[in-house]
Amino acid sequence: MPGPTTIEWTEATWNPVTGCSKVSPGCAHCYAETFAERWRGIPGHAYEQGFDLRLWPSRLEHPLKWKKSRVIFVNSMSDLFHEDIPDEYVAQVFDVMVRADHHVYQVLTKRHERLAELAPDLPWPDHIWMGVTIENRRFVHRAEYLRRVPANTRFISAEPLLGPLEGLDLTDMHWVIAGGESGAQFRPVREEWIRGIRDLSVAHDVPFFFKQWGGFRAKSGGRLLEGREWNQMPSHKLEPVLAPTGPKVPKKRQKDIPDDSDEKWQYTEHTRAKHEILRRYLGAWLAILGRGKKGSGFQHARLMLLDGFAGRGRYVNGEGGSPQIMFDRAVEAVDAGLAHSIWIGCAELNKNNFDGHLRPVCDALKHHAVTVTPTHESFEAAGTKLAEWADRQAVRAPVFVMVDPYGVAGVPMTLLRRLLAIDRVEVLLTFMVRDTGRFIDEDNYEKPLTDLFGGDVWRECAGDEYRDRRDECLLLKLQEVVRPDVATWATPFRVFEDERRTVLYYLVHLTNNDLGMREMKKAMVQQSGDMTFWPVTVRPPDQLALEVGEERPYPSLQHRLAKMYAGRRLTFLELLNEDYPDGVWLESEYRWAVDGMEKEKPARVGISRHRLTKGGRPATRGIQHPDTLRFPES
Ligand SMILES: C[S@@+](CC[C@H](N)C(=O)[O-])C[C@H]1O[C@@H](n2cnc3c(N)ncnc32)[C@H](O)[C@@H]1O
Repeated sequence: MPGPTTIEWTEATWNPVTGCSKVSPGCAHCYAETFAERWRGIPGHAYEQGFDLRLWPSRLEHPLKWKKSRVIFVNSMSDLFHEDIPDEYVAQVFDVMVRADHHVYQVLTKRHERLAELAPDLPWPDHIWMGVTIENRRFVHRAEYLRRVPANTRFISAEPLLGPLEGLDLTDMHWVIAGGESGAQFRPVREEWIRGIRDLSVAHDVPFFFKQWGGFRAKSGGRLLEGREWNQMPSHKLEPVLAPTGPKVPKKRQKDIPDDSDEKWQYTEHTRAKHEILRRYLGAWLAILGRGKKGSGFQHARLMLLDGFAGRGRYVNGEGGSPQIMFDRAVEAVDAGLAHSIWIGCAELNKNNFDGHLRPVCDALKHHAVTVTPTHESFEAAGTKLAEWADRQAVRAPVFVMVDPYGVAGVPMTLLRRLLAIDRVEVLLTFMVRDTGRFIDEDNYEKPLTDLFGGDVWRECAGDEYRDRRDECLLLKLQEVVRPDVATWATPFRVFEDERRTVLYYLVHLTNNDLGMREMKKAMVQQSGDMTFWPVTVRPPDQLALEVGEERPYPSLQHRLAKMYAGRRLTFLELLNEDYPDGVWLESEYRWAVDGMEKEKPARVGISRHRLTKGGRPATRGIQHPDTLRFPES
């Protein structure tokens, strides 16, 4: 079943090119640009180069690997007919589309001239649809160019619609999409413009799709036009292509593949994302949380890391697993003088994984102050021993626990509760929701789920009404169980199944430490970007997530604060703790937003500084955690 998608008229995106430049007014508030620019300069990030044009030959073959048929929007983060993309590369993209013909591709461009120039040399099988964007009457001629393209499905995207499309000729067009602009600087769409296009489509018998009115948020104004939704698709063309061809080969279910099969030890994109988070977070944890209170000079002599589902320690092509990441970070921390010694426990239940892989890998991890102890046992056994050990200590070491099962078995809530009750223990849990959602009715899921939820609240998610939203339901139930008595914070981040939109799992960070919560969020937000990984509360990038790419002082964050905190008085730290887990902004962005609101006339927030000079001026620069904020009534 296709995963939930946020662009209503497509199912998946494929970006063999990212980055673009502006050609017409529709580009002015380009969501893709604002999104990509946020990560400019972050080494290793997919958008390290911001929105500069970049070819991704490594992604060319992706659609061939996606076995299930999908409707794929090509280059949601670029324009395939951009002048800097070589002709040969465009041909390569088309070649993949021709070969992976079990999908339908939607290619959309604003470069009508280059499209018309290259089209005669490109293949146009039925499953490649070609469209042009027309945002106002100055660009209706793009349809003329599109008509020259011998595609079987030609479509017009009137989005963001900035004016009436007088003069638009729909002859030989097969589909029309329309929608208003969204985001902080949205240019409002008028109903008569949308109605005009709808009427024209109806008159020409062309399917019409009304995406949204737009507004501050994409969904602000809903999708109703004269009381109804318009969801027409050129479906007569979709069905034959998406119908299964040939004998159906039953797909092997992940849960049926043994844990020690090489198939499970391929290094996937989402494993890479998970490891990157682990790496970043451990860096912060070891340097800040493991170190003791900031400024106190106190240093814990010993730190402990427990990898509860350590796995093999190495993937089939030699990539290091979680024990290696923990070891590398620990060595860095010790060498930098952040801790005297660090102990890493690695529990693995599968005997073949343990004997054949994990033990030899761990034996090679040697450092005078970092001890790696692999054990052939369950997380439950290793976690219980750790809790018992902690009970006996007068001064406890800070502990970070990674809980990373393939499914949901072996993670009892009783143990998580016990571990989190210990001072300075944090847990990062991989919560596998995709398979859980699919197999929730099967008997062998009953006990693991009841153990994990510490009861049977998960059963509510098995109901038919949650069929399409089982992942969200399960996450919500888990949060309900955990907060607040197991952990104050249960911050979830969703990890997509590669470039598709199915949620594979949530990484849930459980902590009682608000600094820990903020550090983890920072690690996660900085890692997201390549559409595989995204904070739960934020729409994925191609849903015009303007909030994430805004300039200082972040008007959407300011708007949110002014609205949600109207009439409230609280410290900056309280604000962070309350608001932070729910959005994509980082602490520095809150500072800019609040600072800007204070400077406005009239000010949208009053700030009382906790430390003042004798002359009554703020003693410190910028906003400090204990400063009190007063938001006026709205
Ligand atoms: C997703 S893999 C771990 C991957 C590893 N954390 C990494 O990032 O490289 C899960 C591993 O847990 C093992 N396992 C399964 N049940 C377990 C249990 N109850 N306790 C400990 N390990 C278990 C499996 O054999 C498998 O190797």
